[in-house]
Amino acid sequence: MTKHAIMCSLVLMLIILTHARSRRPCPGSEICECLSKNKTTSVFCNGDNIRHTIYFEQLPDDVDKLHLEGFLFTNLSSSNFPPLMHIKQVHFKDNEIVYTHPDLFENWSDLEELSFSDNEVQNTTELFIAIAVVLRQGTQNLQIALQGMRVAQLQDPEFISGNFSKIIALKFSRN
Ligand SMILES: *[C@@H]1O[C@H](CO)[C@@H](O)[C@H](O)[C@H]1NC(C)=O
Ligand SMILES: *[C@@H]1O[C@H](CO)[C@@H](O)[C@H](O)[C@H]1NC(C)=O
Ligand SMILES: *[C@@H]1O[C@H](CO)[C@@H](O)[C@H](O)[C@H]1NC(C)=O
Ligand SMILES: *[C@@H]1O[C@H](CO)[C@@H](O)[C@H](O)[C@H]1NC(C)=O
Ligand SMILES: *[C@@H]1O[C@H](CO)[C@@H](O)[C@H](O)[C@H]1NC(C)=O
Repeated sequence: MTKHAIMCSLVLMLIILTHARSRRPCPGSEICECLSKNKTTSVFCNGDNIRHTIYFEQLPDDVDKLHLEGFLFTNLSSSNFPPLMHIKQVHFKDNEIVYTHPDLFENWSDLEELSFSDNEVQNTTELFIAIAVVLRQGTQNLQIALQGMRVAQLQDPEFISGNFSKIIALKFSRN
C-alpha cells in the first residue's frame, strides 16, 4: 500500500470509530436520537417546530439527560411525555410554550437539573408553579436555568422560593 492509501484507510477508520460513538436514532423513535456515553444515556428530540409531544416516542427506561428542541408545546403537561420517565436532567431549548400545566413534573422525582433557557413561554407564573411541584417532591438538589426567556418580566418567581434551600444553582441572566 502506498503511504497515501494507508493515510486514507486510517482517516476512514477514525470516521467510523467517531460515528460509532455519536448519536443514533433511538430504537422505535421517529424524532429522537440516543447517545450512550460513560454509563449515561442522553436523548435528543427535535420537533422541527411542528411537533407538540414526545408521548409516542419509544425512549429508553432510564434517561439521564433529555433535550427537547423546536417543539410547539401549546399545552405542556405530563401527558406530553411517556409515562414513568426516570430523568435526571431536562433541557428545553427554542420551544414555544403556550400553556404549562402544574402537573408537568409530577413524579419526576429523579430530577436534578432543569433548563428552560431560550424558550418562548407565554405565562411564566405557570412555569414557576410547575417547578414548585418539583421542589415539594423527593428532589433534594435542583439546578435551574431560566435564561434568555424573551419575556419582559418573569412573573411570580416567589412560587419557587418556598423550598429555596433545595436549589443549588440558579441561572437567571439575559432576561
Ligand atoms: C464518568 O462519570 C463519572 C460519574 O458518573 C465521572 O466521575 C467521570 O468523570 C466521568 N468520566 C468522563 C470521562 O466523563
Ligand atoms: C390544556 O390543558 C388544560 C389542563 O388539562 C386544559 O384545561 C385545557 O383545555 C388544555 N388546552 C388546550 C388548548 O388543549
Ligand atoms: C403520579 O403518581 C401517582 C401515584 O402513582 C399517580 O396517581 C399520578 O396520577 C401520577 N401523576 C401524573 C401526572 O402522572
Ligand atoms: C398566568 O397563570 C396564572 C396561574 O395560572 C394565572 O393566575 C394568571 O392569570 C396568568 N396570567 C396571564 C397574563 O394570563
Ligand atoms: C418544601 O418541601 C417539603 C417536602 O420536602 C414540603 O413538605 C413543604 O410543604 C415544602 N414547602 C413549600 C413552601 O412548598
